[in-house]
Amino acid sequence: MQTLLDTLTRFETLAYIAAALLFILALANLSKQKTALNGNRFGMVGMGLALVAVIVVALAQSAAPVWLTVVLMVAALAIGAAFGIWKAKNVQMTEMPQLVAMLHSFVGAAAVLVGFNSFINQPGADFADPLAASENAFHMGEVGLAVFIGAVTLTGSIVAYLKLAGKISGKPLALPGRNWLNLIMIVAIVALIAWFVNTRGVDAGMVPLAIITVISLVLGLHLVMAIGGGDMPVVVSMLNSYSGWAAAMAGFTLGNDLLIITGSLVGSSGAYLSYIMCQGMNRSFVSVILGGFGEGATPAAESEAKDYGTHTETTPVEVTRLLLESKSVVITPGYGMAVAQAQYPVATLTNMLLERGIDVKFAIHPVAGRMPGHMNVLLAEARVPYDSVFEMDEVNDDFGDVDTVLVIGANDTVNPAAETEPNSPIAGMPVLRVWEAGTVVVFKRSMGNAGYAGVQNPLFFNDNTLMLLGDAKASVDAIVGELNRTAGA
Ligand code: TAP
Repeated sequence: MQTLLDTLTRFETLAYIAAALLFILALANLSKQKTALNGNRFGMVGMGLALVAVIVVALAQSAAPVWLTVVLMVAALAIGAAFGIWKAKNVQMTEMPQLVAMLHSFVGAAAVLVGFNSFINQPGADFADPLAASENAFHMGEVGLAVFIGAVTLTGSIVAYLKLAGKISGKPLALPGRNWLNLIMIVAIVALIAWFVNTRGVDAGMVPLAIITVISLVLGLHLVMAIGGGDMPVVVSMLNSYSGWAAAMAGFTLGNDLLIITGSLVGSSGAYLSYIMCQGMNRSFVSVILGGFGEGATPAAESEAKDYGTHTETTPVEVTRLLLESKSVVITPGYGMAVAQAQYPVATLTNMLLERGIDVKFAIHPVAGRMPGHMNVLLAEARVPYDSVFEMDEVNDDFGDVDTVLVIGANDTVNPAAETEPNSPIAGMPVLRVWEAGTVVVFKRSMGNAGYAGVQNPLFFNDNTLMLLGDAKASVDAIVGELNRTAGA
């Protein structure tokens, strides 16, 4: 029996090392569109391996009858897998941010439950051996932190989900002295963790642990309630980071190295993603966390009142002619392409232009759409060749050499006011300098609606800009139809 256990422990260690490497490979591959599919595969294999290792070792070590452990594990896996498969099959691309927020709340809940379980199994006690006493104090500290971060993640993610799904108002809740309130709660939690670490026995420890849980749940609720719906994508990525740290803490309490590694990978990549998003929007991370911004449309009185002149409208026939006369075309997609689901006709249009020897590139702004990589996912879905998709920094200096730019459902990300109007809410946000191209065609439904930041876009009134008003999918379909007609003529 002992030999079997030794062998299984060795298998567990090896499986954990392999899974950790696979997770690192997954992250590395997910950072590029070309390799993202492989990244997903590495992640799936790593997770499968980790699950097998956990199940096999749990079966060997279980004090309960093997059949009972098997039944419980199969039931848990079946329920989780059934829910996951159903959700993955049904979720719309536009609902992805709220799904991610909901999944983070599960990680938070798991960290809280693991923390309580670990404490009940190993509460504080008087140890004769000073090493054992300090080890136990360390364990109690980990439990306190796991419950704290897990509970903040749990309620914070639930509020983020409700805001993103439109089930509660996206308006920030601005309680008087809200930052002080947060600070007081954090100081109280730190003091309670210190008390908890010094308790002896389940009954004595349960009191501070329960209070830590309640205050942390309220803190998570309040932190995210104070942030406007507009900043929710950054908050979701921040909660992603929290959920990673909560998992890492749970890994410490369980003595599970793989959970510590995985949690740290999620924690640090989530934090880095939040940083990239803040940079793309020219918002400081601290101002997002402290909340009170992002009520959605916040029209800047100054730019709204400004008269930018008149716009020029165009037709699909005229745009088709323009495209056929162009040598190089750049497409800058935005949130409107996702709303219209125009990626499929856009892919068809791209192929038709490429077949005619016209150079077509896509220029992707880092925060185009409503979540990181939104446009890349849509274009990949429509099988647009990867090598024609470029990041903003790769093409932003080349617009002067481009004949025609098609701005498909993008607005803030191509707004020159970010560079020219210091009082604009988007001042300083890096933007795609499409106005430097020969001609710009903007696809949007009406002149009345602003972009996400709620500000007017002077690009629409430039002499070299043509407005193609209407649903983006219908407009691109019409251009494809016109191209087919000219080919047949
Ligand atoms: P937006 O500024 O949101 O503009 C979307 C444009 O699409 C609007 O001009 C809208 O005009 C048009 N549109 C909507 N539905 C359409 C349809 N069916 N057919 C044609 N046009 C349609 O988009 P963007 O340029 O992608 O900028 C993204 C914004 O989101 C930025 O302000 C960014 O800071 C913010 N944001 C992004 C993220 C991430 S990570 N991506 C996170 C948080 C915030 P009409 O309504 O007139 O059609």
